[in-house]
This record gives sequence, structure tokens and C-alpha cells, in this order.
Amino acid sequence: MWRRRIRAGVLEQGTVDLLQQVGAAGRLRAEGLRHDGVVLASDGEAFRIDLHGLTGKPVTVYGQTELTRDLNEILAERDQPVFEAEDVQLHDIATDRPFVTYSKDGVARQLDCDFIAGCDGAHGVGHTHIPADVRRVYERVYPFGWLGLLADVPPCNDELIYSNHPRGFALASMRSPTRSRYYVQVGLDERIQDWPDERVWDELAVRLGPKAAGRMARGPSLEKSIAPLRSYVAEPMRHGRLLLAGDAAHIVPPTGAKGLNLAASDAHYLSDALIDFYRSGSTAGIDGYSARALARVWKAVRFSWWFTQLMHRFPGEDAFTHKVQMAELEYLANSRAGATALAENYVGLPF
Ligand code: DHB
Repeated sequence: MWRRRIRAGVLEQGTVDLLQQVGAAGRLRAEGLRHDGVVLASDGEAFRIDLHGLTGKPVTVYGQTELTRDLNEILAERDQPVFEAEDVQLHDIATDRPFVTYSKDGVARQLDCDFIAGCDGAHGVGHTHIPADVRRVYERVYPFGWLGLLADVPPCNDELIYSNHPRGFALASMRSPTRSRYYVQVGLDERIQDWPDERVWDELAVRLGPKAAGRMARGPSLEKSIAPLRSYVAEPMRHGRLLLAGDAAHIVPPTGAKGLNLAASDAHYLSDALIDFYRSGSTAGIDGYSARALARVWKAVRFSWWFTQLMHRFPGEDAFTHKVQMAELEYLANSRAGATALAENYVGLPF
């Protein structure tokens, strides 16, 4: 199985505003797709959550890989970033003179710092420097993965469709008016080589229902991979002068597309803390960073977990669990309060 991370494509307004503030929203503004609602489907029925009507906010569909490219371009213009450094090590993070050592092109280098921002993902070195006796890890591993397929065909619907089907979850998403992104829930033992494109399309057609299937254009996959789902939070997000942000500190399952948006809110809190430090000399923002960021992280972890539970079929799940899922979907379809709670979290809680 290919162990990939899902790079989702739904930006909260807070993320878009932040990117705009730092001058990184040019292409996003031109090419991002504004979505005012999402569709939830189950067993042949579908209903729309009016995100904008219920919250006053839309979301923007724009691929994370595109955003990474935009940010890298800006970084290259403004700074001298070092990519692909090897043997990165952090030193003296509990003092006010921390430093980083690494090698690049075979040459050993040292970077003296005031602070170190560990934004190096779940497999980076940042999080390994939070001492074991202060670090607490919270984790939930889900008993399934997502098989994702990207293809140059028009989307089957102008809004995203999340479907809870007896054969498992399916999601119809997009990257542009001519590029579709689809996912199906698969067992953890599934292998990508057993999923030729036609099998994925057939499965999507069944799980998304006849209406979406009728409008679904098929085409060769540009990319296809399986990713496991998990929730993971490591606390605290700061130790001494090391501050963690994004996947270095937390992972959410992709349902609801919160991962990138959480990295953005961390970056916002982190920059606030640093600006405050350099303006006033106060370390209050630095000291409070972990608690401030985690308060928002946990709400998104909660929402992603809830949305995952609601929309997937769990192996061995009993009839009771399924009835409760269906009751909850019916409640969301018919209650303004229920729909608003979903919408408020989907468009993003305030930074
Ligand atoms: C996408 C991924 C998600 O997890 C989601 O909830 C919505 C969209 C995507 O890749 O487009």
C-alpha cells in the first residue's frame, strides 16, 4: 500500500484571508473556486448544507499542491530558503540561543536562532525534540483508508458530495472546472494495484448514487493512491524556543479537509507571538502559543473525527451504529441548528 497523505483542496475563509495578508493569494484569487454549499448523501438520498446561507462564509476549493507552489515561489523571492537539507539537528532549544545544524551539498552548516519554528511535518525532526517527559500523545487510528483518484474530467457536480453508502464512504471533489478529485473508502489491506481506474469509477458510480453517476465523466487517472486515516495530537506545541506548527504537532483524518487550515491557524498564532515578542520584548505570546493553538486544533480534531464517524462504514459495525448514523443525517437534513453546527465547523471556526 502506498502510504500517502491526502492533500485536500478546501480552504477556509480565515486561511484565504491570511494568505491574502501575506501577499500569497494572487493565483488563489484568480483560480480558486468559491463554494457556498456542500452535499451530503446517504442510501440514495441527498441534501445540501447551505454553508454561506447559514454562516455568511463560503469555502474556496484550491489544491494544496498549488498553494505549496505559490508559497515556495514567494519564499524564493523574499528569502534564501534551503531545501533538502540533510542531517538536520536542533540544539539548546531550552536556552535563548538555540541553533540548527544541517548539511547541504555535503557541507556542514549552522544557523543561530532566536526561535525555531518546527513546521517540518509528522516525519520531521521538530517534534522529536519535545522531551518525552513533557510530551503527551493522543491518537485514534481508523480501520480504513481512502483511495484517491485525480483525473482531467469535469466534476460530476458543482459542489462537493460526501456520501455514506452501504459499500462505504465516497467523496466527489474537484481541483478546477476540468479536473476532478474523487475518493472511496477502502480496507487497510487493499492494494492500489488491485484498483484499475475502471474499478474505481464503477465503485464511485455506485456509492455516489445514480444522479451523480449519470453526470460523472470518466478518464485516465493522473494520480491514484491509498492513504490511511488517523487523528493525532502531540502536546505541548512549544518547548523552550522551539515552536511546532501543522503536521509536526497534529494530524486529522481528511474528512472535512481541516489539515491545511489548521497549519494556517497555527502559523497565524505563531506569527502573532513572534511579532509581539519583537515589538514589546514580552514572551507572553510565546508562552501562550501552545494553549492558544491547541484550543483551535482540538475543535478541528473533534469535527474531523465526528464527520469521519458519521460518513464511513466501520468494519463490523452493528445495526444500531448504522441506525444512529442515518438518524443523525436526517437530523442534519431537517434541523437548521444541526446544519448550522456542521456549516460553522466546515467553513472554519474563527482564528
Ligand atoms: C478534498 C479532500 C477532503 O478531505 C475533503 O473533505 C474535501 C475535499 C479534496 O481533496 O478535494
